[in-house]
Amino acid sequence: MNPVLKTIYERKSIRAYVKRDIPENIKDEIIKAAMKAPTAGNMMLYSIIEVVDQSKKDTLAKTCDNQPFIAKAPLVLLFLADYQRWYDYFIHSEVPELCKRMKMEMRSPQEGDLFLACSDVVIAAQNAVIAAESLGVGSCYIGDIMENYEAHRELFSLPQYVFPIVLLCFGYPTRKQRERDQTCRFDKQLIVFKDKYKRLDKEEFNNMQKDLEEKVAKVNHFLPGAQNIGQHIFLRKFNANFSKEMNRSVREILQNWLRK
Ligand SMILES: Cc1cc2nc3c(=O)[nH]c(=O)nc-3n(C[C@H](O)[C@H](O)[C@H](O)COP(=O)(O)O)c2cc1C
Repeated sequence: MNPVLKTIYERKSIRAYVKRDIPENIKDEIIKAAMKAPTAGNMMLYSIIEVVDQSKKDTLAKTCDNQPFIAKAPLVLLFLADYQRWYDYFIHSEVPELCKRMKMEMRSPQEGDLFLACSDVVIAAQNAVIAAESLGVGSCYIGDIMENYEAHRELFSLPQYVFPIVLLCFGYPTRKQRERDQTCRFDKQLIVFKDKYKRLDKEEFNNMQKDLEEKVAKVNHFLPGAQNIGQHIFLRKFNANFSKEMNRSVREILQNWLRK
């Protein structure tokens, strides 16, 4: 198998790290790989903050749905959607004057700009993940960084058009983590369609359920009250408190982004 595919296929999320710093040259490669990712209009609508301050890592371990391993990760990178840099640059470049001259509206970043920036962020982040993996460094995404927007805005001095999309923890895997089984994925026919979208039917849901059953049975039992996998996942993920907080927080982010 070619080494790129091998890296992609063998990667798994790593949540426990040996006590070993990641050398600066390896960090540089990981960040360089992120910055080489495709980016909409070649605008790089993202920023990356390396979280070095241990007290900030400790805070994130709490504000990101209490995940203590964040505080122990030797390298923590915060990936931010960022239109502030370009908006400031437009002002710096006297775009408002241009607009006046050309009788155009000087608009501020809107919903589409935000989605494009989010795409840029995750593509860059995933390049970092794969580069790290190829260098023997494990990683784990933290989606909970979208929670507690107000706290994170203050913690990292974020202006109006910058906000967190993903946090990435990196470190050399413990032996136990390396030996862990990989997580399974749905069958291709449930995910990949030809020419048009297909809503799943009863039989397909039954097959999907079988996959999920295997997965859930391996790691834990149903939550109290749940009688099947759908109910379990609903309670554990979709309707969990972290999910409610994430939706509240993102609503706040959106209001802030669209504020004139
Ligand atoms: C957007 C995103 C957010 C995630 N957030 C978390 C998280 O907060 N905590 C965590 O332990 N894993 C998190 N993960 C990792 C997933 O749980 C993991 O990718 C999934 O279970 C599949 O396992 P694998 O990466 O080992 O293949 C996240 C992954 C993604 C892509």
